[in-house]
Amino acid sequence: MRAAIYERYGAPDVVHLAGRAKPTPAAGEVLVRVDAASVGASDNAARSGEPGLVRLFSGIRSPRLPVLGSEYAGEIVAVGSGVTGLEVGDRVYGATGAALGCHAEHITVRADSALASLPPEVTPSQAVALADGAMTALPFLRDHGRVRPGMRVLVNGASGSVGAAGVQLAHLGGAHVTAVTSTPNLDLVRGLGADEAIDYTAVDFTTSAEQWDIIFDAVGIVGFARARHVLTPHGRYLSTVPGSTLFHTLVSRRAKIAFTGLRKDAAKRPDLAELAGLAVAGDLVPLIDSEYSLADAAAAHARVATGRKRGTVVLRPQE
Ligand SMILES: NC(=O)c1ccc[n+]([C@@H]2O[C@H](COP(=O)([O-])OP(=O)(O)OC[C@H]3O[C@@H](n4cnc5c(N)ncnc54)[C@H](OP(=O)(O)O)[C@@H]3O)[C@@H](O)[C@H]2O)c1
Repeated sequence: MRAAIYERYGAPDVVHLAGRAKPTPAAGEVLVRVDAASVGASDNAARSGEPGLVRLFSGIRSPRLPVLGSEYAGEIVAVGSGVTGLEVGDRVYGATGAALGCHAEHITVRADSALASLPPEVTPSQAVALADGAMTALPFLRDHGRVRPGMRVLVNGASGSVGAAGVQLAHLGGAHVTAVTSTPNLDLVRGLGADEAIDYTAVDFTTSAEQWDIIFDAVGIVGFARARHVLTPHGRYLSTVPGSTLFHTLVSRRAKIAFTGLRKDAAKRPDLAELAGLAVAGDLVPLIDSEYSLADAAAAHARVATGRKRGTVVLRPQE
């Protein structure tokens, strides 16, 4: 089979096509034909080896796992022994977490891993956008922010894959949503359900006279120290990126960082099913930035590396 691989850290063009043995499913596993896979910020970090801390996980001198990608959608084409509840022909989508491997034509995953069935109404590309952005945004807003009707929620980085899902989920939860983005994306975030849109190139929301119950920093760049000035007395700052907020999460209940990769598969499975249901109902629109064939994986990485993508960058390994 074909896969997009990298053997050394560097610019997007270190990623190239290579032939790999098609895997066979072991006991308890299924083989999935990958119709779509996301290319995200974590792939960008693992490919570049920057920041250096990432190499503790991806390999100190050179990459440990040559095939990147941690979200996939496709069809089961073989089933290992002992698997119940999944069959050849089932459409599924899911996340492989630290095991990666999704930027390939096929992948084996455990039948009890983080996967859910993919309804016919949801395309594979839409599904990986759900597994990428919405899977991250959901626990932040539901579990750590406990969004309720009437709350004031600000989403920073509202046009990224996590932020775009965050705006929609907060809106769905009945919150008054303020979305922070740059000038070209103001209409986009309003269309996702934001009641107000702030252009960060013109206004610094941390100096605003307004206050929010939740500040969801989907790009993790503001930090609790600045955000606290515009939080209500019991408001919380939620960040996808540790940065300076790591210290504050240790000493304050009002700052929280969480990592999708650290959540248990058993917790992700119902979330994936719920998100697919929301997409079928039209309550959550998966935002796709762009799509690339496997042969153009380096271009997909280059797009992610701009830091300007709107939603999810998708690889289509069968094309
Ligand atoms: N903790 C976790 O489990 C977890 C999971 C997934 C991702 N992450 C992290 O979450 C972050 C966001 O991921 P993502 O995939 O959503 O990123 P992304 O799609 O690459 O986000 C890019 C967006 O950020 C916006 N942006 C850039 N600079 C900004 C600024 N100064 N203020 C506000 N918005 C700004 C850009 O909008 P403009 O073009 O308008 O500037 C762009 O739409 C990444 O750092 C990623 O590593 C963490």
